[in-house]
Amino acid sequence: MAKVVHLGFLGCGNIGGGVWKLLDAMHDEILQRDGLDIRVERALVKSIPEARTDVPAEILTESAADVLEDPAVEIVCEFMGGEQPAASFMERALRAGKTVVTANKMALALHWHELQAAADQTGAGLYYEASVGGVIPIIRSLTVSLEADRIHRIMGIVNGTTNYILTRMAREGASYADVLADAQRLGLAEPNPAADVEGFDAAYKLSILSSIAFHSRVTVDRIYREGITGVTPEDIAFGREMGYTLKLLAIGKRSGNTVEVRVHPTFLPDSHPLARVDGSLNAIFLHGDFCKDMMLQGRGAGDMPTASAICGDILFAARAVRHTVPSFRNTAETDPALTVTDDWSTRYFIRMKVTDAPGVLARIADVFGQRDISLAAVMQKGSEGEKARLVLITHKARERAVREAIAALDPAIAQVVSCIRVENGEA
Ligand code: HSE
Repeated sequence: MAKVVHLGFLGCGNIGGGVWKLLDAMHDEILQRDGLDIRVERALVKSIPEARTDVPAEILTESAADVLEDPAVEIVCEFMGGEQPAASFMERALRAGKTVVTANKMALALHWHELQAAADQTGAGLYYEASVGGVIPIIRSLTVSLEADRIHRIMGIVNGTTNYILTRMAREGASYADVLADAQRLGLAEPNPAADVEGFDAAYKLSILSSIAFHSRVTVDRIYREGITGVTPEDIAFGREMGYTLKLLAIGKRSGNTVEVRVHPTFLPDSHPLARVDGSLNAIFLHGDFCKDMMLQGRGAGDMPTASAICGDILFAARAVRHTVPSFRNTAETDPALTVTDDWSTRYFIRMKVTDAPGVLARIADVFGQRDISLAAVMQKGSEGEKARLVLITHKARERAVREAIAALDPAIAQVVSCIRVENGEA
């Protein structure tokens, strides 16, 4: 006997339409293979007359209550995006005992504790595989497959828009503004690109990933965030000459009870697997005590890849005898047992304009040396008027010491143009 599973959709745009298409195409196969007869009962849209969807008109509604209060609906699939009303609708669904499947990283990262509490109260399931990395099965890998491991480091390219922009800037030597404008014309960047280019999207995803990987809640407000708006083709070109590729990385590291969580443009050695993840692809590289280094790569966005991950959650939820819960106390604040440090240690690429005169390099090196910052490479190349272009790569140094050194440089001889962190994937 087939098990009938009734779904309700909140939102029916690109992603909802993709899920409908996939369920329609796979319905008979899923029924035959898994014994699950998946049916969409109701779908919430903003305006029925303006709805552009393949979902049959008779199941469309403009009232959220028609989905949230329909006793037949067991699984609510949220495709609205944004923080509200998506989060409160999901909470209502969970409080009514309905399982929720969502790809909404913002609502999840900001309201996870409330959603989890509602799910715990009724025993409903909360599934969010598509919230990070699109179709890449990173959530289930961390929560199920790698649960017995101890993950120390995650480095992710988790935003396709910025990866696309940086890839084109590197290939074409083009400016950030020109590539962004082109990406917007092609529909690959939003008309208001702030969520992507300022790193907010990546920070929500990092909050979810690091909470799961480190078995402790890490909230978005504790994540250091720097976007790609200040990246120049000159930085990318200088980096390339020194064997580095620039990516916007979401980095989470745990050592004992200290964690560092940061999103910023990062140089990686060209040989690092993440350096070869180009265009709008996403990838997550992680390191655990027992799994050692591993990387998952795939499409981080797009209607059908995202629909694939969402439908995987729907089938998982439909079969579950008891729903899975996170391996940590899902609280409103970052786990008080953790210390979130902003004084991490990494390597730095520092580009400056300096006076081209005897003794200048020694004076600059001294400012760094006094703060225990050791230089690994120095490149002087070309000039701008009276000034020489100088790039330093440091050995591992403390963030605060590097900031102090930059502030202590004599502006009469050196002006820092950019400072970009360098990672090699090690501790
Ligand atoms: N705006 C996101 C990206 C979509 O560019 O990757 C998926 O969250």
